[in-house]
Amino acid sequence: MAVLVVHGPNLNLLGEREPEVYGRTSLADIDKELKDLGRELEMKVETFQSNSEGGIVDRIQQARGKCDVLLINPGAYTHTSVAIRDAIAAVNIPVIEVHLSNVYRREPFRHHSTIADIAHGRIMGFGAESYSLALRAARTIAEESRRRSV
Ligand code: DQA
Repeated sequence: MAVLVVHGPNLNLLGEREPEVYGRTSLADIDKELKDLGRELEMKVETFQSNSEGGIVDRIQQARGKCDVLLINPGAYTHTSVAIRDAIAAVNIPVIEVHLSNVYRREPFRHHSTIADIAHGRIMGFGAESYSLALRAARTIAEESRRRSV
């Protein structure tokens, strides 16, 4: 089972960026934790970060036919990007939308997500732990879809 984790803009600054909102864990630490947990869950975890919308679209397209579940925190593109939504719809891979913060406790412009209605589920508000919770959920989703296809 393979999972692709995509991190959007400014998430490369995690740990230093608004730590009162996003916590003190760096992106490298989150990625390492996900790979360790992936080994435990017998899932291959690949991670990718880009500050550019096109870079994220390209990486999602490359995952077509190659990964079982996509975990994505599109950062600020969550609230604006039709291109990322279209890429997700095009590849036909179940998606879990992840956020460190609970966007509903924040400014109203963060309440809208262009991908919420095409996501399998959404996990937010648990800081870095949002990602590990999402990876555990990904394992369940991948198992279910494999069971359905045999
Ligand atoms: C975020 C929430 C977004 O509103 C924000 O633009 C981010 C991070 C989160 O993980 O809480 O960059 O996606």
